[in-house]
Amino acid sequence: MEGKREKRPRKPKELENQPGRYDPRNTLNDLTGKEWLLLTKSFWETETSVIDKGAYKHPAPFMVEDIKKLISMYTKKDMVILDPFVGSGTSLIAAELLSRKGIGIDLNPGYKDLYEERIQALGIVPHSEYLIGDSLKKIDEINLVDYIVTSPPYHNILRNNSKGTRNHTGKSYRMSARDGIEYYSELENDLGNFEQYEDFLNAFSKIMRKAYQHLRNKKYTTVIISDFTVNKKEVCVQGDIVRIMSEAGYEFSGTTVLLQPVKPLYPFGYPYAYKINHHHQNIITFRKIES
Ligand SMILES: C[S@@+](CC[C@H](N)C(=O)[O-])C[C@H]1O[C@@H](n2cnc3c(N)ncnc32)[C@H](O)[C@@H]1O
Repeated sequence: MEGKREKRPRKPKELENQPGRYDPRNTLNDLTGKEWLLLTKSFWETETSVIDKGAYKHPAPFMVEDIKKLISMYTKKDMVILDPFVGSGTSLIAAELLSRKGIGIDLNPGYKDLYEERIQALGIVPHSEYLIGDSLKKIDEINLVDYIVTSPPYHNILRNNSKGTRNHTGKSYRMSARDGIEYYSELENDLGNFEQYEDFLNAFSKIMRKAYQHLRNKKYTTVIISDFTVNKKEVCVQGDIVRIMSEAGYEFSGTTVLLQPVKPLYPFGYPYAYKINHHHQNIITFRKIES
């Protein structure tokens, strides 16, 4: 407006240069009001750190700092976190760094070795457990947990798209070239090996239905996944995940967009058709609410 300065909304007092205050009524986490509020923003930029270095022998690891944010939002110290597709063990490492206990499950024993290498390199004496096997069965062995954070295989896209693991010669690990062919395993219960997208969704749904039985009431579950193409057609994977999780009893709490701004841009459809470049993941969170 000409001549008039628009009034900026005033920053809440507790968000000005103070660490914020912890509310003793807080039953969800150990955060101050200010820390809590900052994590409710619907987009985050992915945060890489030196701790991620060892993870890149896995084709699709989480970044530790991203998972630390989630664990600090949804749990308190000493609580138990489950990741039924734990891969290189990032969720367990994030849990350890925040004095929580992690339980991870993965089909591929080689990824447990990778997790152990990472833990050793960080000098952590872990309290977490890494179970090898199919989550559909292994979940029966665990007790109640306080939070589930996970990312399943993205259907069979590694088999279709990947040229293998990254060599670490580039400036940034994420941007480094890949060498060799890599997918998770040859096992038939590996969710990355289902040919049909519907079969992949059904297998994921069965595991998450079981996981629901092991989650304490009023606690949260986060699934991290991006949209992708199936048979060259763009699919709203997020929509399918929300549907199958809701059918399993989880209540949708919201999606945080995790921006990945340093990925390369590919001219997929150019110059004939629009094709999207996925430069974000969806962090989709649910709550278990039973009366
Ligand atoms: C997207 S990756 C998870 C990566 C992990 N977030 C990390 O930071 O390394 C998915 C993982 O699911 C595992 N997986 C696939 N099918 C499984 C099943 N039925 N039970 C347990 N793990 C499975 C794969 O071996 C793979 O490591």
